Amino acid sequence: MIAYWNGRYLPKDEIAVSPDDRGFLFADGIYDVVRAYEGRLFETRAHLDRLGRGARALRFKETDFLYLADVAGRLIEENKLAAGEATVYFQVTRGAAPRTHCFPPPETGLTVYAAARPFAPHREDIENGINILLLSDPRWARCDIKTVGLTANVLANQTARESQARESVFVRDGAVLEGTHTNFFAVFAGRVVTPPLTNYILGGITRRVVLGICREHGIPFGEEPIFEADLERADELMIVGTTTEVTPVVRIHGRPFRSGAPGPVAVRLQKALREMTR
Ligand SMILES: Cc1ncc(COP(=O)(O)O)c(C=O)c1O
Repeated sequence: MIAYWNGRYLPKDEIAVSPDDRGFLFADGIYDVVRAYEGRLFETRAHLDRLGRGARALRFKETDFLYLADVAGRLIEENKLAAGEATVYFQVTRGAAPRTHCFPPPETGLTVYAAARPFAPHREDIENGINILLLSDPRWARCDIKTVGLTANVLANQTARESQARESVFVRDGAVLEGTHTNFFAVFAGRVVTPPLTNYILGGITRRVVLGICREHGIPFGEEPIFEADLERADELMIVGTTTEVTPVVRIHGRPFRSGAPGPVAVRLQKALREMTR
């Protein structure tokens, strides 16, 4: 597999990360993931804009990351991923420099990595729905930045796997926020609701696309807090994300939610998203 490493295209196995890299030492880095459908990248600009916002939030050296759209295209081509589905992963760190908490010397270059790989969609989850856990959110207060510091997300997702669940959704002060790598949606009396953009959730690209679908299709929607106690009144629950697309939630902690089958709004959103991506 050919990957992009600081301006060069190399066999992935030949890439060696410095032990002084700040991504390795401090998780001092950001990442993003773009989906490719039959070689066509979906919402690349939005993902790269988010990478740029993350870089500014972390006060990285001023950089325009839009060139990574071409990098992604070349990786799809070089790795013969133009037929079928793939993901492109981007990671940028503050670079490699002797370890010290404060920023490295200004001449330190950012580390930029990108790689494409085939992706098999989770069709069964999308069609049948999934079991989720609701877990107390132990993360820091800048969940709006897509940093590679994902330990809390890793542990919560593993807890889900060990409980025959596919995803854990974080709850803070009673508010249901987002999953470990997904945004959360609920439907109340035909109205689609997702938590508002705050520092406690990531502004997901799929979240934005789904809200756009609601607007276009005349489905009522809102960005409002969803409390755990509200879930009793919800007709449908969903998680959405680049890799999960629109995945219905049909069980919570193993207990069936409503009928235990995907609801009509989820199915409608799935269809609309499929039309946009395929
Ligand atoms: C914490 C978190 N929330 C939400 C999402 C969904 O974002 P997107 O739709 O841009 O993939 C992700 C994606 O990885 C995430 O890590």
